[in-house]
Amino acid sequence: MQKPSLPDMVINYPPGPKSRSPLGHLFEFARNPLAFLVDVAAAYGDIAHFKIRKRDVYLLVHPEDVQEVLVTRQRHFVKNPGFQTIKKILGEGLLSSEGTFHLRQRRMIQPIFHKHKVANYGEIMLERLVSFEKRWKDGSQISMDQEMARLTLEIVGKALFGAEVGGRTDQISTALNDAMSLFHHITSPAALIRDRIPFLKDRRFERGKERLDIEIVEIIRSYRREESDTGSLLNLLIEARDEEDPQARMTDEQIRDEALTLLLAGHETTAVALTWVWYLLSQHPEVEAELHEELNRVLAGRQPVVDDIPQLTLTARILEETLRLYPPVYMLGRQTLEDFPARGYIIPAGSSVIVSPFITQRDARFFPEPERFNPQRWTPENRSRLPKFAFFPFGGGQRVCIGEPFARQESILILAALGQVWSARTVPGYRADVQPRVTLRPRGGMPMILKKR
Ligand code: HEM
Repeated sequence: MQKPSLPDMVINYPPGPKSRSPLGHLFEFARNPLAFLVDVAAAYGDIAHFKIRKRDVYLLVHPEDVQEVLVTRQRHFVKNPGFQTIKKILGEGLLSSEGTFHLRQRRMIQPIFHKHKVANYGEIMLERLVSFEKRWKDGSQISMDQEMARLTLEIVGKALFGAEVGGRTDQISTALNDAMSLFHHITSPAALIRDRIPFLKDRRFERGKERLDIEIVEIIRSYRREESDTGSLLNLLIEARDEEDPQARMTDEQIRDEALTLLLAGHETTAVALTWVWYLLSQHPEVEAELHEELNRVLAGRQPVVDDIPQLTLTARILEETLRLYPPVYMLGRQTLEDFPARGYIIPAGSSVIVSPFITQRDARFFPEPERFNPQRWTPENRSRLPKFAFFPFGGGQRVCIGEPFARQESILILAALGQVWSARTVPGYRADVQPRVTLRPRGGMPMILKKR
């Protein structure tokens, strides 16, 4: 239950932009949440307050406060009400569920994502690259964002559904295509407006969601009937048990929500991260040359395997530096359940709190020359000097990204395998800009020209 908050009159708000409109800063925020927050942080520092309609919103920048929100006092927070849009597709999956239900689901699913389990998906991650050898041509122009989105969806789809046994290939690809178009629907700016106007119900969306639900549940049932163990994530979800209640299993509907959550959370973020890696390499040929040197030395022309990852240190640092400059999840929103002290102020229960990897990770107090792409920031010595939560692209605490080991392994393998053969350059006249939607996509996509090495 939410505690009663302090009455409005006695609240001592920290500084922040003021608005006379009853909508507060709704439009500025909806138009470009990141640009708005960056300006607010630049003007007001470690804590700022503004309104979106009647809601009090606080932006916290300092790593100590990020740690308080995500870890130390995490039980005093729930996710922002904005998650309702996502819930329309993902139901009660890990990303959107709350409280004891979320904890139970997390306990059941966590073991599936342990590093040694994820290593089993190494081959799947690489075998999807075969199609690139056929499609990518020296000198041709591609949309790198779309290429990476297609690849990461194929990988997580294959990891989820496993080998195409029992003639389910068509069923699975229909479900994946349907899921994709619904994901596009909720990640479009139009969804934000549509969601606030109840009578603008989108019947096509609702029918699509119903169909997808049926498709996924049928796939789950066919797995259960066959009792075949393909080692897929879906098999593991079906088998998952709660160590505190070993008799309890997930229902088909719960598995469906978790499967859709893994499909969405698992492909869009990784695709965006990889797209920005290609962009940054294209702008920094000296770093790219060092990467090529590492790949030649470690792999000598053969395909990478999971056991190579510890030797691919520069590849990993390039990924880290990309996640610093372009964190796919650029802001994390929470709602306080209790009054919360921060920077000498009391944030009243019921307020929204935002922390932003993009803003904190570009703060010159923690990262000198913050705009500079410098993978050598990530040597072990430099890393050990960083305050905790100056870098948090995967969040933290109980709700830290469950797919982090999967995403890291996938990204490093893809970079190593493709980077051995391909270079990419942005098309002449291209200027990169960020488009903050659900993730931090490049505005207008990322058109690039391929060059075979
Ligand atoms: C570079 C890639 C990725 C990034 C940057 C990323 C980032 C994040 C972040 C910041 C959160 C926390 C959100 C919050 O606290 O509000 C999160 C949660 C989550 N991520 Fe990822 N993610 C990535 C890849 C993946 C992959 C590959 C999967 C699955 C295969 C995945 C599945 C999830 C799930 C299920 C959650 C919800 C966890 C929970 O609340 O218990 N993510 N991710």
